[in-house]
Amino acid sequence: MLLENRVAIVTGGAKGMGRAICERFAKEGARVTIADVDVAAAEEAKRAIEDAGGQALAVKCDVSKSDQVKAMVEATVTAFGKLDILVNNAGGVIGKQGQPTNLNALTEEDWDRVVDINLKGIFLCSREAVPHMKANGYGKIINFSSLGAISPPDAIPHYHAAKSGVVGLTYDMAAELGPHNIYVNAIMPGPFRTPFFDEVVVSKSQEEIDAFFAGMGKVSPLGRMGEPEEMAGPVLFLASDMSSFVTGAILPVSGGLPLSPTS
Ligand SMILES: NC(=O)c1ccc[n+]([C@@H]2O[C@H](COP(=O)([O-])OP(=O)(O)OC[C@H]3O[C@@H](n4cnc5c(N)ncnc54)[C@H](O)[C@@H]3O)[C@@H](O)[C@H]2O)c1
Repeated sequence: MLLENRVAIVTGGAKGMGRAICERFAKEGARVTIADVDVAAAEEAKRAIEDAGGQALAVKCDVSKSDQVKAMVEATVTAFGKLDILVNNAGGVIGKQGQPTNLNALTEEDWDRVVDINLKGIFLCSREAVPHMKANGYGKIINFSSLGAISPPDAIPHYHAAKSGVVGLTYDMAAELGPHNIYVNAIMPGPFRTPFFDEVVVSKSQEEIDAFFAGMGKVSPLGRMGEPEEMAGPVLFLASDMSSFVTGAILPVSGGLPLSPTS
């Protein structure tokens, strides 16, 4: 098992890619904290992990609130004794999915909320996690950016600016924390079929939903969207000792995007 005796936190671990990462980490031997605003879904994910023989903790946590982040990291260390891995996965275009989000439509509140969740949340979680990693002399941090940071498919400036900020933050943290044997890398997901799009498809028929997702996937060289489980492997690589000389890397997991299919 690749994560035997490791302790991990996955923010936004209740649904979508985060949940797939939690389940895979637990199968690889890690004890996992599922940190999420949706505590009912986090509890359900915990039960699924335990039913499969793994160990997990569900903690209600909004990553943009420093007091909740502090309490969540403390709960993890109290329950599991240490912290080795932090997956800063929580994010999204919360509350505005499917609505116009160009410069004209955005409010200051939209900007602050989305930048706080997608960028400040990574700072807050990392700031709490790093002292425990330094104490261990080991740590793995994986930050979630988005392919939209470098190749925006739509005008979502607050989200894409935050996800670009994640790239800068990742480089900075990798340089600062490498001497402490703490690795910091980022993932750039392309389109994945997850609850991320729930707000967009809520009033569509199943046929329309399938056409929507097919359209989103077909622009990539692989011709389809990713499934949440397909994110677990790349994150496992960065969280395990298989990536023992990889830090400060930005890994696209995107079906080949931003390349286009040519045949
Ligand atoms: N799905 C995609 O196509 C896609 C593409 C590019 C980047 N991403 C990024 O990948 C990551 C995972 O996306 P996903 O598609 O699995 O999303 P998702 O919407 O399926 O799941 C996100 C999870 O984060 C939780 N969450 C939301 N706000 C939170 C907060 N403030 N604090 C703690 N938890 C919070 C949600 O409750 C949910 O469980 C996100 O950072 C997202 O921005 C997704």
